[in-house]
Amino acid sequence: MESRGDFNVNRVLTARLTAEDVTQAADLLRAGRLVAFGTETVYGLGADACNEAAVAALYAAKGRPAFNPLICHFPDAATAFRTVTPTPLAARLAARFWPGPLTLVLQRVENCPVSQLAGAGLPTLAVRVPAQPVALALLRAFGGPVAAPSANRSGRISPSSAAHVLAELDGRIAAVLDSGACAVGLESTILDLSGPRPVLLRPGGVPVEALEAEIGPIQRAGAQPGLPIAPGMLRSHYAPGLPVRLNAVSVERDEALLAFGPPLPGAALSFQLSARRNLDEAGARLFEALHVLDAGAARHGCIRIAAMPIPAQGLGLAINDRLTRAAAPRTLPPEQNAG
Ligand code: TXA
Ligand code: MG
Repeated sequence: MESRGDFNVNRVLTARLTAEDVTQAADLLRAGRLVAFGTETVYGLGADACNEAAVAALYAAKGRPAFNPLICHFPDAATAFRTVTPTPLAARLAARFWPGPLTLVLQRVENCPVSQLAGAGLPTLAVRVPAQPVALALLRAFGGPVAAPSANRSGRISPSSAAHVLAELDGRIAAVLDSGACAVGLESTILDLSGPRPVLLRPGGVPVEALEAEIGPIQRAGAQPGLPIAPGMLRSHYAPGLPVRLNAVSVERDEALLAFGPPLPGAALSFQLSARRNLDEAGARLFEALHVLDAGAARHGCIRIAAMPIPAQGLGLAINDRLTRAAAPRTLPPEQNAG
């Protein structure tokens, strides 16, 4: 399916790179090209965050609306804190959770070198230090901030393998750096520390309970009028092609089953997230599950995904968030969704 922004995107040969090719991947970034790379959360589509033309090409390749800002990736906290001003809470969380699946939204420093386009013109910037060794090697070799949204077409499911990336972006990006399957499989937790009180913008790979144990109570985005919300979290998102029915306690004949624990009987097609009801395992397999069910549904006469209930604690909060978004009615064409 091609989006309306496609006239901007020239077809290119997408190189398949591995850990030995990190220098080549960094050179491509330096030349303003787009390189997808694995992190512990999902694959990101990287561009030199200080190169306005590279960032514009990134938005075009994803079909992403330019009002939705990108996360900047760094090899360590010290380099991240050259682009944003760390608050005391930010310094504490960085020391405890970086490298790892946590993104912090902070005020940009004066003369911040990151392109305005990468931050959608906002005074704040989202920064993170990923824990994947190949990603860290790439960030070190490149030596500057790398803007990287999830490496999917806007509005589609995030990729947790290089194969998922190629299915959506082959021919639209210079390279994919294959570091295997993503260990966490859910995007980073996003915490806004730019205002008077911390606000959870997106549940993700670090459970909010772990953050609260470190810094005390955290408000939930949108819980009260006036609280900030991430521009990318506004609408239906993470959408598989099929609609999703949540908290299913039985399966209809035309439904594919997303199982968590002992599966409901009667499904023609099913995917087990975790037979032993382990949330870490379920999180790591969620996007793979949505890809597989989506691809196999038509062959099995399925027109919908029935998802079994998943507890909303720990990583379960992020899993339920992604499933709720997948289940939301599609009121807009994919290119107007974020992601
Ligand atoms: O795990 C992850 O975070 C992955 C990997 C590649 O790092 N990246 C990722 O990026 O999920 P993306 O673009 O798919 O999601 C970034 C989210 C969007 O919802 C965006 O609106 C929000 O972060 N965001 C970025 N900058 C922001 C800012 N300054 N203020 C508020 N929200 C921001
Ligand atoms: Mg995304």
